[in-house]
Amino acid sequence: MVIAIDGPAGAGKSSVARGVASALGFKYLDSGAMYRSVALAALEQRRTPAEVAPGLRIELAERVLLDGRDVSGAIRAPAVSEAASRAAADPTVREAMVAEQRRLLSQGDWVAEGRDIGTVVAPGAELKLFLSASAAERARRRAAELGVSQATVLAEQAIRDARDRGRAHSPLRPAPGAVVLDTTELALETVVERIVAMAEKLRR
Ligand code: DC
Repeated sequence: MVIAIDGPAGAGKSSVARGVASALGFKYLDSGAMYRSVALAALEQRRTPAEVAPGLRIELAERVLLDGRDVSGAIRAPAVSEAASRAAADPTVREAMVAEQRRLLSQGDWVAEGRDIGTVVAPGAELKLFLSASAAERARRRAAELGVSQATVLAEQAIRDARDRGRAHSPLRPAPGAVVLDTTELALETVVERIVAMAEKLRR
């Protein structure tokens, strides 16, 4: 079974996806980590994301490995977040990442998280969720996570949101048939429980 979880930054996708995967014993695919790894490699090599993407070896498990090197921390730096949002707008980069994501998802049970899992990567997923939350709440969560001010996050978040939603290739939007869940007022455990209940109902 594949559970697709999409939505904007700060909607709680990563924590929710990890929680659901752990509750159900499914594997977890963080597709954003792949775009971040491409962006990091491009910055380091001073080449374009499209040039580096096809040849990279990105391994996702407990840690994120880029050509064998642990980049779990480095890909979360603000400069990489910004570069990842730009790299993710490139069709060549998306094509390479989507092919790899589909290859991974073709075997076993997965919770896959990103922006286009339900729309593009796995439109046949048995369960699709689109998580949302107010812009202020999303910024509050990111600020707490990163230890920076909410105002800074809010400004940068608005730019990345607009780019993720407005890009010509695979813009961020709920997939047909996706369950839209507003997490603004919901505790993490509540969201996880709801999704686990939906998945268990489908498995019966
Ligand atoms: O979820 P995240 O913040 O780690 O994602 C990093 C960037 O990659 C973000 O700008 C959105 C983009 N992304 C995407 O376009 N498609 C995905 N499936 C996952 C992430």
